[in-house]
Amino acid sequence: MQPLRLTVIGVGYLGLTHAACMADLGHEVLAIDTDHERIARASAGELPFFEPGLEPLLRKGLDTGRLRFTTSYQEIGAFGEVHFLCVGTPQAADGAADLSYLTHAADALAPHLRSGCLIAGKSTVPAGTARALLATIRAAAPAGEQVDLAWNPEFLREGHAVADTLHPDRFVFGVTSPRAEAVLRQVYAQPLADGIPALSMGLETAELVKVSANAFLAVKISFINAVADACEAAGADVTQLTAALALDERIGRRGMAPGLGFGGGCLPKDIRAFRATAAALGVQSVVSLLADVDEINKSRRSHVVDMARAAAGGTLSGKKIAALGLAFKPDSDDVRDSPSLDVCGRLAADGAIVTAHDPVAVDNATRQHPELRYAKTVLEAAHDADLVLHLTEWDEYRSLDPAALAAVVAHRTIIDARCVLDTRAWQTAGWTVRTVGRSA
Ligand code: UGA
Repeated sequence: MQPLRLTVIGVGYLGLTHAACMADLGHEVLAIDTDHERIARASAGELPFFEPGLEPLLRKGLDTGRLRFTTSYQEIGAFGEVHFLCVGTPQAADGAADLSYLTHAADALAPHLRSGCLIAGKSTVPAGTARALLATIRAAAPAGEQVDLAWNPEFLREGHAVADTLHPDRFVFGVTSPRAEAVLRQVYAQPLADGIPALSMGLETAELVKVSANAFLAVKISFINAVADACEAAGADVTQLTAALALDERIGRRGMAPGLGFGGGCLPKDIRAFRATAAALGVQSVVSLLADVDEINKSRRSHVVDMARAAAGGTLSGKKIAALGLAFKPDSDDVRDSPSLDVCGRLAADGAIVTAHDPVAVDNATRQHPELRYAKTVLEAAHDADLVLHLTEWDEYRSLDPAALAAVVAHRTIIDARCVLDTRAWQTAGWTVRTVGRSA
C-alpha cells in the first residue's frame, strides 16, 4: 500500500475514530480541531468519550508518529493530499441540519489548499451540500479548479466504531472525477483488498445514501414499536412476534429490537434533517413518512412513563424509582437525546425520586440532569425502591440476579423497557414484570 498524507478536520466521534483508523492503515495523519483542550487531550492519548477498542489505536498512532494533532489550518493545508471533513452537522432550531461548522471549516481551509489535493466529506449532509461546497472552495482557494471534492459518507455505529470504520459493509464514493475515485481507492486500499465493496456514484446520490440508510433504520425501529403497541392492545407478545418475523429473510432480525425507541446524536437529527430536505424539494411522501416515524419514536418515552405511573399505583409523586441505564444504547457513554435519560427526567418532573445507574454514562447524564440521584452500583440504586425500570440494555443488567435485587427493594416490580430480561427468572424470584409490547 502506498501511504498518503491525510488530514482530518474535526476531532469529534467521527473524526477521532477516522484519524486513528487511517493511521492504523499506515497513512500519515494530521488531525485538527478548533477546541484546544480536545487537541491537547487527544495528543496525550486520551479519548474524550467512551469507545471500546479506540484508545489503543490512538496510542499506537501517537507512538508510531503516524498520527498527530494541530490547531493550525495553515499546517494541515501544507501537509494534506486528502482532507477529510468530519465536523458535526447538528440539528438547527427548525429541524434542518446546521451546516455552520462545515462552512467555517471550508472557509478556514480554502486559502491553504495545495493544487491537486482532494477534499473528502464524511459528515452527514443534505443533498446538494457537497456541490455547493465545491463551488465555494474553488472560488476561495488560490489553487482554484485544481482542488477536487468527493463525498464519502461514514456508517459507523457508536460502540462498534473501529470495526465499522476498518471493515464497513461498503464504501460509498460520491465523485465528480475518475481521479477522486482513484485517490479514495488508494486511501482504503487495504480494506478494499480484503473484499469490501466500493460503490461510486454522483455527489447527491452519496449524500442521500447516508441519510436514507439512517432513515431506513429509524423506520424499522418505529415499525416494530408501532407493532409493540398493537401487541399490548391485542394481548400478544412483541418479542415472540419479532422472532417469527426474523426468520423471513426479507425482514431479518437485525435493527428490529422493540422497546424505548431510538436516540443518540444521529438517527433523530438525521430523520429531521432529511424531512427538511424533502420539504424543500417538495417530496411530501418522505416528509409524512418521517413525521410518523418521529412521532411513534417520541411516543415510546411517554408510554414507558405511563407504564411506570400505572405500576406505581396511579401517581409518581414521592415514589422511589431505580433506573437502570442512562446511555442512549449499551457500550456508549453518549446521552445525547437518550430515551433512557429523557424518561428519568420526566419521572423526576412528575415528582418521583429517581436514582439512576449506568456503567459509564453517569458523568454525562449528571451534566444534563443534575436533579437526579446517581448510584455507583445497581444494588445502591435499587435500595428501598418502589419500582425498578430497565432502560438501557447493558449486558450487566441482563445478567443481574433477581433474588439479590429482591432483597433490597421495597416493592418487587420491574418494567423492562427493552424487552430483553428473562421474565421467568424474575418472576421466580417474586417479581412482577411488566414488559413493553406485552399485555401482561
Ligand atoms: C447510527 C447508524 O446505525 C450508523 O450506521 C450511522 O453511521 C450512525 O447512526 C451515524 O449516522 O453516525 P448509532 O447512532 O451509533 O448509529 O446507533 P444505532 O446502533 O443505530 O442505534 C440508534 C438507536 O436506535 C439507539 O438508541 C438504539 O437503542 C436504538 N435501536 C437500535 C432500537 O431501538 N432498536 C434496534 O433494533 C436498534
